[in-house]
Amino acid sequence: MELATRRGATQVILSEHRRLTSIVSGMLRVVDGMASSSGSYCTMLMRAMLYYIHEFPEQVHHPKEEQYLFARLRERTDEIDAVIDELRHQHEEGKLRIRALDRALTRYELAGVVMLPALHDSVYGYADFYANHRHLEESVILPGAQRYLTVADWAEIDEAFGANRDPFESLETEDSLDDLYRLIVQTMPDAQT
Ligand SMILES: [Fe+2]
Ligand SMILES: [Fe+2]
Repeated sequence: MELATRRGATQVILSEHRRLTSIVSGMLRVVDGMASSSGSYCTMLMRAMLYYIHEFPEQVHHPKEEQYLFARLRERTDEIDAVIDELRHQHEEGKLRIRALDRALTRYELAGVVMLPALHDSVYGYADFYANHRHLEESVILPGAQRYLTVADWAEIDEAFGANRDPFESLETEDSLDDLYRLIVQTMPDAQT
């Protein structure tokens, strides 16, 4: 029972990481494709991917990591405080990078190919940044959680991540950019009014 609970929360986090990685790799393919084919479809794809990142990782995944996983780890040990501080800082940096990427995309839409190198650098920079962030969480935080958290901690974390609204759940199996775009659009949560 204890093992199943731990595995449940951890698997949700790993699955959400895989999903964002597949979106980021889609963004790399789109920005690479912009060099040979301009047009509104590429920018539409990129906007859909930015929308995904804003809706799910930024508003659900990262806040829950901080509120539950990082908070309980701080209570149980001080051995990984420096990594937790760095990851919290990266969550803030990630938001800024996505905003900068959005602005670079707008400049590309308005001014054309002259703005493509900046957009390219912004997308590739985010991909490196996120790969490092994911690696730090999976190599330090998740093993640390297995080591230090109590059964009660896991029950709380499992419930928190198990309750994630997950409107994009089927994304991780998609390889085609067309399918990815269609899935994002079809699975968008209802607009908040
Ligand atoms: Fe994460
Ligand atoms: Fe994170």
